[in-house]
Amino acid sequence: MIRKHFLQMFIQKDKYLVVDLPQGQTKFHYIWLRDHCRCKQCYDHLTIQRLVNSPEIPLEISPHHVSASEDGLSVNVVWPDEHQSKYDLKFLANNSYWPPLNPESGAKIHSGNGKLDKVPWNVEFLKENLPQVEYSKVMDTSTDDGIAEWCLKIWKYGFCFVNNTPVDPESTKKLIERIAFIRPTHYGGFWDFTSDLSTHDNAYSDVAIPLHIDNTYFTDPAGLQLFHLLKHTGEGGITTLCDSLHAANILKQQNPEYYEILSKIPVPAHSAGEENVFIQPSHAKPIINHDNEGNVIQVRWNTSDRSVMNGLSFKNPETEVPLFYAAIKKWNDIIESKDNEFFHQLKPGQCLIFDNWRVFHSRRTSFTGERRMCGAYINHDDYVSRVKLLNLSRDDLLETL
Ligand SMILES: [Fe+2]
Ligand SMILES: [Zn+2]
Repeated sequence: MIRKHFLQMFIQKDKYLVVDLPQGQTKFHYIWLRDHCRCKQCYDHLTIQRLVNSPEIPLEISPHHVSASEDGLSVNVVWPDEHQSKYDLKFLANNSYWPPLNPESGAKIHSGNGKLDKVPWNVEFLKENLPQVEYSKVMDTSTDDGIAEWCLKIWKYGFCFVNNTPVDPESTKKLIERIAFIRPTHYGGFWDFTSDLSTHDNAYSDVAIPLHIDNTYFTDPAGLQLFHLLKHTGEGGITTLCDSLHAANILKQQNPEYYEILSKIPVPAHSAGEENVFIQPSHAKPIINHDNEGNVIQVRWNTSDRSVMNGLSFKNPETEVPLFYAAIKKWNDIIESKDNEFFHQLKPGQCLIFDNWRVFHSRRTSFTGERRMCGAYINHDDYVSRVKLLNLSRDDLLETL
């Protein structure tokens, strides 16, 4: 139901304006109102950037005159310097903060009213709901339907297979670039390798690698990773995936104390296997990271790339050290349990893409023979921008800015 934003009443106080809307009463500081003027002098509607220089607004600013527009859909304010501002009541209702009325809040818009809700999964769930799309559909540039569906599946489930991909690096590169530009790292951009240890990282060997995310050694780990197995002449090399969102829910429910310690203790990481590389994040971060609303936003789990943990990580070592090790043992039991770790044999023609902030991947078993893989990374921010613009309305999104 669309609720109109007719102004019912407003009251001018010393430092703030009280506004009565159908959704309830809320207040706005005058300095906030002046700072959020959306006139052409104060806001560039083409570049979507603020022009008003906020620190120059007098702290004690108070309007010269306030009135309701004739249609009752906006509030007009004249400031002491004769500057005129007009605030749509929809804008005020959406951005109210004292208290937030929140009828069509940014969060709702950002989630597309539920369309972008993430779906935590386990092995049982995937039996009926394996996220997959067709290469030809994604690559059809005459419509955005295929790419929108692909991005939405990656967003909701944290991964997706792309079936019937031509078995060559060029087609694979074009596929990932359908989402966004490739993110280069010290290992290069689009990679295409056989297991020959040409690079000093265990990914380039034939050993088994347990569930992990890549790039815990970066301040901003890659958002998406795509794999395409182009050729395999031997046995083994099974890939597994695990949804850290689902695993975190289980840990929080079963062992809140463990969940808390994994959300708190900073875990340092590094990449330094190459002679000319010494990479660490700007600051060590915990394994489980949350957004400002308390939702799990990034799980940095990679035991191989962990650096030494000392007094910088443990502030109360007597309790925190045993608790941390007990917590990662329990965590590992959850993610490697048969209910939660999904086994899949990659094959030529089927690409796998996953959200590297959320879904853990592994090479569960070592392998024999020659194995050629190609793939690439994409930044998380660029991927999320694509998810939102392809699946929600740009006008709605701009209303949240
Ligand atoms: Fe990896
Ligand atoms: Zn203005």
